[in-house]
Amino acid sequence: MPILNRAAELQGEVSEWRRYLHENPEILYEVENTASFVEQKLKEFGVDEVVPGIGRTGVVAIIRGKGEGSRTIGLRADMDALPLTEITGKPWASKIPGKMHACGHDGHTSMLLGAAKYLAETRNFNGSVALIFQPAEEGGAGALAMIEDGMMERFGIQEVYGMHNMPGIPVGQFAIRKGGIMAAPDRFTITIKGRGGHAAQPHKTIDPIFIGSQLVGSLQAIAGRNADPLRSVVVSVTRFDAGTTHNIIPDEATLWGTVRTHDETTRDLAENRIRQIVEGLVGAHGATATIDYLRQCPVTSNHDRETDHAISAASDIVGTSNVDPNVDPSMAGEDFAFMLKSRPGAFIFIGNGETAALHNPHYDFDDEAISFGISYWVKLVESRLSE
Ligand code: NI
Repeated sequence: MPILNRAAELQGEVSEWRRYLHENPEILYEVENTASFVEQKLKEFGVDEVVPGIGRTGVVAIIRGKGEGSRTIGLRADMDALPLTEITGKPWASKIPGKMHACGHDGHTSMLLGAAKYLAETRNFNGSVALIFQPAEEGGAGALAMIEDGMMERFGIQEVYGMHNMPGIPVGQFAIRKGGIMAAPDRFTITIKGRGGHAAQPHKTIDPIFIGSQLVGSLQAIAGRNADPLRSVVVSVTRFDAGTTHNIIPDEATLWGTVRTHDETTRDLAENRIRQIVEGLVGAHGATATIDYLRQCPVTSNHDRETDHAISAASDIVGTSNVDPNVDPSMAGEDFAFMLKSRPGAFIFIGNGETAALHNPHYDFDDEAISFGISYWVKLVESRLSE
């Protein structure tokens, strides 16, 4: 079965919404304009309930099917953009310097709105659909904020499904896997306190830049020498702040970075080894250090049964040859992980073709994916709520 005719008809209109959202990106929890746009559209479609302010700026809408049914499934889209300046030169490029929809959440929000319009028109299912529009996916744990606001209980959500566009996978294809599909993304900030002085007299200082440089190399031992080679781990130092000019050795240096893992054992190991390596290496040079280590969301881990439902819905639309049921896991993080900890569900990748990588200033969501995304949501609802 191809994409739904009605979804194809909606593509033009939904693209316009997508481009409007793209021009007006908002960061983290400050998605007020986006949330009110979403709320207004949902009311136009005649959904049964629209509740703003869940998890600060999230929106949840309920659509009830024609048939009797006590079951409710949740479909989630994220709404926030990134702190990045767009350089695509597209007519609908961001109007706000320093903010950009570089992860395609404008596409996710628009596709879920398109599905809402379709489902409110047709209602060919039994039970209810909860449409979840989430703020602050990009490092703000917006999913957790919505859960902590009681969303799952309040709307009786029994299963949850998420979708993310994926550049490099052709438009018209889907990819998913059972178990871990996205990593746990933790972050650290290490502040090395040495003793500054004249750059011409290094012997009278404890040089935090020298120590920090060694630390950048030594932390690679975690992936290379400590972790089980069959279990993935990434340790990246992404920022190194120190010093002011040519002839001064500073007092302090600060290293920022991220740790990505796919299982709790390796996650614990990485944190413990970072603490040991920092303490040992810094101590060996007579300096001290503080470590600020933040565990963000857990691994995004798909449940078996719900992954099968997702595969079957996607296959109904594009055929089994266009659905990869065992895609390689990604080392990026995704806070939908919290929803999958709270309820069974599945997170799927939808092909977004040959655009630039996610989080790149050249990236733009490919609107050709819209009718596939809408069709997937509709198929999933109509098949999961068919009894
Ligand atoms: Ni994203």
